[in-house]
Amino acid sequence: MKSDLSSIRTNYTKSSLDVADTGDDPIVFFQKWFQEAVLSEVFEVNAMTLATASKDGKPDARTVLLKGIENGTFVFFTNYESRKGKELEENPLACLVFFWPELERQVRIEGGVSKVSRRESEEYFHSRPRESQIGALSSPQSDEIPNRSYLEERFRKLQNELQDKEIDLPSYWGGYAVRPERIEFWQGRASRLHDRIVFEKNADPDSDFFWRKFRVAP
Ligand SMILES: Cc1cc2nc3c(=O)[nH]c(=O)nc-3n(C[C@H](O)[C@H](O)[C@H](O)COP(=O)(O)O)c2cc1C
Repeated sequence: MKSDLSSIRTNYTKSSLDVADTGDDPIVFFQKWFQEAVLSEVFEVNAMTLATASKDGKPDARTVLLKGIENGTFVFFTNYESRKGKELEENPLACLVFFWPELERQVRIEGGVSKVSRRESEEYFHSRPRESQIGALSSPQSDEIPNRSYLEERFRKLQNELQDKEIDLPSYWGGYAVRPERIEFWQGRASRLHDRIVFEKNADPDSDFFWRKFRVAP
């Protein structure tokens, strides 16, 4: 097993990335790469690893879906009382990672996290299929439950209770926005000499922010 795994490797040759290719705004550049990933039919192109940590620094990560880029923030939706919700409550910092193997690319985004407005969460919640809305209501996300039928029972009960009524956004469900402080674009290259271009927000409080960009070693 060990020897099989250690012999798995890919030589990346599809593309390259230079500081000069990336423009001045990493959000605009992210959107360009995202469109290219869509055109390349990357599977679950908006899936991203969301890393959080508890207040004592214990790390955690899981996949969520990017649902929009708004005013320079990356937005996803979830249950505020889930494990990630509790971690973000006590430590509102996160890292997002996209891996698009078809393009041999990775994007890594770090920043502070805040809840989106209730109106925005409502809009998104009501745009989801009714079954997903009831699913969100029936699942105490991340809590221990006795078995699967517990969940299915809650789902059925809610379906009967609600009939065709409009479903209100539950108080414990909504969006988070990650405001990037640092974004790294990674392009796989041959012989492990990958390209990594980083944008870092300038922290000068007396001036409007600007992005400093530089290359880091692979
Ligand atoms: C492709 C994919 C997309 C997912 N998208 C979401 C999402 O947008 N929101 C969400 O709450 N969970 C999503 N999940 C489930 C999460 O990975 C996770 O199981 C759940 O949110 C509970 O995480 P937590 O216990 O760390 O809070 C997704 C899982 C996968 C595999």
